[in-house]
Amino acid sequence: MQYGYFDDENREYVITRPDTPLPWINYLGCQAFFGLISNTAGGYSFYRDARLRRLTRYRYNNVPFDLGGRYIYLRDDQSGDFWSPSWQPVCRDLEDYQCRHGMGYTIIGSRYQGMEARTRYFVPLNENLEVWELTVTNRRDSVAELSVFSSIEFCLWDAQDDATNFQRNFSIGEVEVEPGVIYHKTEYRERRNHFAYFACSAPVAGFDTQREAFLGPYRGWERPLAVERGSASNSVAHGWAPVGSHHVKLRLQPGESRRTIFLLGYHENPAGRKFDPPDSQIIAKASVRPLIARYLDPAHVEAAFGALRSYWCGLLGICQVQTPDVHTDRMVNIWNPCQCMATFNVSRSASFYESGIGRGLGFRDSNQDLLGFVHMVPERARERILDLAATQLASGGAYHQYQPLTKRGNNDIGSNFNDDPHWLIVGVSAYLKETGDWGILDEPVPYDNQPGSEQPLYAHLERSFRYTLDRLGPHGLPLIGRADWNDCLNLNCFSDTPGQSFQTTTNKDGNVAESVFIGALFVLAGHELADIAERRGLGQDASGYRAEVARMEQAMRLHGWDGKWFLRAYDDSGRKVGSAECEEGRIFIEPQGFAVLAGIGLEDERAEAALDSVGEMLATEHGIVLQQPAFSRYYLHLGEISSYPPGYKENAGIFCHNNPWIMIAEARAGRGDRAHDYYLRINPSARESISEVHRCEPYVYSQMIAGRDAPTYGEAKNSWLTGTAAWNYYAITQWILGIRPSYDGLEIAPVIPSGWPGFQAVRKFRGKTYHITVTRSGSGNRVSLTVDGVPVTGNIVPLSNGSATDVSVEVSLH
Ligand code: GLC
Ligand code: GLC
Repeated sequence: MQYGYFDDENREYVITRPDTPLPWINYLGCQAFFGLISNTAGGYSFYRDARLRRLTRYRYNNVPFDLGGRYIYLRDDQSGDFWSPSWQPVCRDLEDYQCRHGMGYTIIGSRYQGMEARTRYFVPLNENLEVWELTVTNRRDSVAELSVFSSIEFCLWDAQDDATNFQRNFSIGEVEVEPGVIYHKTEYRERRNHFAYFACSAPVAGFDTQREAFLGPYRGWERPLAVERGSASNSVAHGWAPVGSHHVKLRLQPGESRRTIFLLGYHENPAGRKFDPPDSQIIAKASVRPLIARYLDPAHVEAAFGALRSYWCGLLGICQVQTPDVHTDRMVNIWNPCQCMATFNVSRSASFYESGIGRGLGFRDSNQDLLGFVHMVPERARERILDLAATQLASGGAYHQYQPLTKRGNNDIGSNFNDDPHWLIVGVSAYLKETGDWGILDEPVPYDNQPGSEQPLYAHLERSFRYTLDRLGPHGLPLIGRADWNDCLNLNCFSDTPGQSFQTTTNKDGNVAESVFIGALFVLAGHELADIAERRGLGQDASGYRAEVARMEQAMRLHGWDGKWFLRAYDDSGRKVGSAECEEGRIFIEPQGFAVLAGIGLEDERAEAALDSVGEMLATEHGIVLQQPAFSRYYLHLGEISSYPPGYKENAGIFCHNNPWIMIAEARAGRGDRAHDYYLRINPSARESISEVHRCEPYVYSQMIAGRDAPTYGEAKNSWLTGTAAWNYYAITQWILGIRPSYDGLEIAPVIPSGWPGFQAVRKFRGKTYHITVTRSGSGNRVSLTVDGVPVTGNIVPLSNGSATDVSVEVSLH
């Protein structure tokens, strides 16, 4: 069953009924000001940091799930009836409800008793504000007298404090009201030099800024007193809960349309010029007024929307494909890169499942995310890499996360994840291959942001690599530390006390438990680092790295193989994890995918054997589960993984993040049918027709789909912010379609389904546009290349300095 459809031409998903199984959301903003918006206009906005600079309030885990947002109410002043054109919160029976989620904007429209209302929400490029552009049309054959009420609930800026510290916060709320503009200035009197504003383009009949005055006592958002009554009370908030609401009256002739623009913005004043007059407590508004005036002008808004559309056109235009499969095209061309940009912007910080106060930018996560967006925003990827590297510790280890506002690392969600440092190498090599910007390796970068500790980025990579060599366990495999990629495989934790955090509790010295997964990651990162060193003319470094990699491969062969698949780990007592010997958790997905992805086992048929085991034991119709059999009870020595009921999350859920590792591994093993089959099993668009089972948005990946051990098998959870976005994009574009940036040019190595006659692609790369046509002329994966009509040996389209900006590439697959 579906709740909408894809409009590929407009790059939109169109939701046709408001009661989706879960809120189906979108992101507004792409630089500093962001908003989350659901299909019923729920959500909130923030500037850079969803905790410290949250503009509007949002109550997570609310009832209903998604309540609170950018609500507009319409009231028929002739009958007194009122409704929300976005359905929530009033929830009248709307006609023609439609929500169009597009690239950086959302349009929600509906009709109710002959009145049509459509609101376009977006954040203009380079601005710290969002526009809500409401158009109301009278489709009746008589004059309509209407009231429009806007509404938002201001947040007290530190969202954590906002949800806990009421004895203070109920007394600090302050606003200023001018005709049409409500300023929220809580704490501006002291250390803040920023404030929020909510403006309206139409003359207002009234306003409210105190929540209780707007809603009325004992009422919720579904029937605000002001709306029911048809008049605002011009309340000015002193303490309690400041809100913003404008009341606008409309008189519309039959067929007449009226546009009203609302702006919600964030603004900073220079520290010494906060007040005007200077000795007053009144916000200086000279710098914000022109901005507000500009965006209350419909012509300017239209132009800003056009600019946003072109921006996205440019981003998506870097890689476009035409294959025989609509789900591949749609995800590669539109939604997957869109999701990659969301993960670039907010990492795992703010979604409908990440509260904006829990996690900052993860070291491991953000480095992997680079794989999905480096081609779209290389300059910003560069900045991200340098920011991440600056939080690396002198030991080579890493803080697990940092806060975007301060760019300082912290241990709030644990530390000593021994896989962390290697992801920096993975991220940097992807950046170098895409851009050829070797200069980044010479950038001086501090450790732990300590001035004076700067070393070239290259030295950071080296320390990342050495970090593991300094931490080898009894089998010569990497010690796991707190955990590796799988946060929940906690082999040094042994937590038996309720309330203890699996992320921070450590009861073992950590000198025994080893991770086969980190072994594979080390091999992959080591190869990349050696390639980098070689190309920098550091041949000796390169051979040193390769020797260590060879040693690790040997350890993996001797101690990381279980007979039919790769082992997962050794626990604190030296027992195997992820082995046929185990009662539960006999086989894990991560080492199968990552070992083969790193090239291990390709020469001795272990790769195929491991992948066959995955196919037999882990693959399901909804994707590949993380391990089998699921843990049916809590295992003290394994930790959080066994805390989840079977089939959920890391305990045998389909953790979508690592499914692409298997896709890539299958591609490396030359098995295109299987690679693409796995790709489709979790492809959101391919799952659209089972939306009642999948339940999350059909246009973006979710972190998890419940595995076959779960009662809700096939149900997705935690959409949007997941490494799944980058890895799937990387798997399909670079390994299945096989269009791969490399140091020497664009490598073309498709491993596509046998039934595909071929495909076409356009890829911009290092200043040129490659027009690629792949034609199957045999059943294998061998490639013959013709570049601008000239046959080329090998499968790399060499970089050329020629002046032509378009390159035509004919590929014969045989
Ligand atoms: C979450 C984390 C990621 C981790 C994964 C597996 O998605 O963000 O860092 O690798 O879970 O535990
Ligand atoms: C929990 C989750 C895991 C996530 C971690 C982040 O352990 O199960 O997926 O990575 O929290 O802190």
